[in-house]
Amino acid sequence: MTSFLVLVQLTVAAFASATSTTFSVPNILTPHSEFSPPFMVTPRNLGFSVASVSNWGYLHDYSINSSYTLTSGFQGFPTLCSIQNRTFWFAGPVQIQDAQNRTLASTSSSVAMALTFSHPSWIRELSPRPDSSWPVIPITPAEQLVSITYNQTYQFDATAHCSLINDTSAVQFWDAWSYNSGKYNCFHIGGSFLVIYTLDPATNKLTISRPAPVYQKESIQYPYGSFSTLTVQGMTYLYAWDVYVPPSDDMGGDSGTGGNHRDIHVAVAPTSTIADKSTWKYYDNSTGTFSSTEPLPTTRRSSAAIIILDEFSTEFENTFLSASIFYSEYHDAYLLVYAPIYPPGIYVRFAPTPLGPWSSPGTKIMDPTQFGYSVVRYALASPIFFQTDGNGGQSLLLTLSGDYKTQAFKLNFS
Ligand SMILES: *[C@@H]1O[C@H](CO)[C@@H](O)[C@H](O)[C@H]1NC(C)=O
Ligand SMILES: *[C@@H]1O[C@H](CO)[C@@H](O)[C@H](O)[C@H]1NC(C)=O
Ligand SMILES: *[C@@H]1O[C@H](CO)[C@@H](O)[C@H](O)[C@H]1NC(C)=O
Ligand SMILES: *[C@@H]1O[C@H](CO)[C@@H](O)[C@H](O)[C@H]1NC(C)=O
Ligand SMILES: *[C@@H]1O[C@H](CO)[C@@H](O)[C@H](O)[C@H]1NC(C)=O
Ligand SMILES: *[C@@H]1O[C@H](CO)[C@@H](O)[C@H](O)[C@H]1NC(C)=O
Repeated sequence: MTSFLVLVQLTVAAFASATSTTFSVPNILTPHSEFSPPFMVTPRNLGFSVASVSNWGYLHDYSINSSYTLTSGFQGFPTLCSIQNRTFWFAGPVQIQDAQNRTLASTSSSVAMALTFSHPSWIRELSPRPDSSWPVIPITPAEQLVSITYNQTYQFDATAHCSLINDTSAVQFWDAWSYNSGKYNCFHIGGSFLVIYTLDPATNKLTISRPAPVYQKESIQYPYGSFSTLTVQGMTYLYAWDVYVPPSDDMGGDSGTGGNHRDIHVAVAPTSTIADKSTWKYYDNSTGTFSSTEPLPTTRRSSAAIIILDEFSTEFENTFLSASIFYSEYHDAYLLVYAPIYPPGIYVRFAPTPLGPWSSPGTKIMDPTQFGYSVVRYALASPIFFQTDGNGGQSLLLTLSGDYKTQAFKLNFS
């Protein structure tokens, strides 16, 4: 084990200042068709009645060792990305543990593959191995410089599934946190950035790159894309949380630590120029118009929001950390699936376009307390069970993290 860890550290050093990494991808197929819905659809309001929910358990890599599990850190829970009939799980900090929950290895960011949709929690980790490029999300030369100058460590987290932008590429937004490992938070910079994944079908190589210009500074700019991304008809919708800080609780301004996620804003980018931020436009829901001027989150702008999640009675119930927006062929609707931290519940709303108007309030589709959750920190949904269950969206893959591990659930609508 010692030599394994040493090798991993050497590999990290070798890739420390790259802005892209490349992995060989095994030929493990999870056939999946991607729909390209029109901008406006006619939702079939089927009432969202649920026929069944199955728990597939913690994400698990049997190839490492049948008694080992992969454990995702507090922020770094796994997110999905399907490209070319491969389904990847990207995550922030991940640990490999044995049956006694002892840590055997860890990565700052990781990529795994789904083995089969019949057992959505069975995965094959690609990253924490000495023979692969590691870590998955490359650190930029600028981060490298800060890292050396201030003795900082970087942590990367993704909180939304990716969006396929063409046959071979997908985009995802990640958040960066930097901290001094000796003195936590003594110097902190952070922000969200664009990552592009490209799977070359000729060579079976997955390349993960960070186009330098798209870096949205935490507190200073909205983290467009970190809430959710959705590509429809050549346009990519980049959803961001606003942070609502009640006057009585103004601890952290818009930093994301003192307020509660509540309002959802959206920017739209032509998919082909997504890495050029000057081509993005920002939507104001109150006027129904787009502007090229990036709004800055100095005050709450709820009139510009496309969704406001404040349907519950207490601050705590109205606190959200993650949600998903996607198209469901079964409902012929854009769906928003979200979960308050406490009390646990999974809710859905629907809309005829990626901009809304969204139904309100949400319909509860799952009670996580039935599966032992007293708190849900992160909950993501994906209509990925296309081939096995007919219409995409009749079955959802839900991933829930209440503790440090993520379990996969399959929910069937009736
Ligand atoms: C798998 O785990 C068992 C029991 O902990 C151990 O004896 C064995 O060496 C492990 N195998 C591998 C390939 O790591
Ligand atoms: C994915 O799998 C489906 C079903 O097997 C097939 O029709 C399709 O061509 C595949 N797509 C790619 C990009 O390989
Ligand atoms: C390991 O973690 C799991 C899930 O958090 C828990 O159910 C199990 O009891 C733990 N096992 C040990 C030996 O602590
Ligand atoms: C897909 O998008 C990526 C990223 O924008 C781009 O580099 C690539 O050329 C595109 N591929 C095709 C086939 O359009
Ligand atoms: C950087 O941080 C590490 C971990 O806390 C510490 O061991 C090391 O001495 C620090 N280096 C400098 C130059 O401060
Ligand atoms: C957004 O605008 C639409 C159309 O005017 C409206 O129906 C909807 O209620 C607005 N959403 C919010 C959250 O205010």
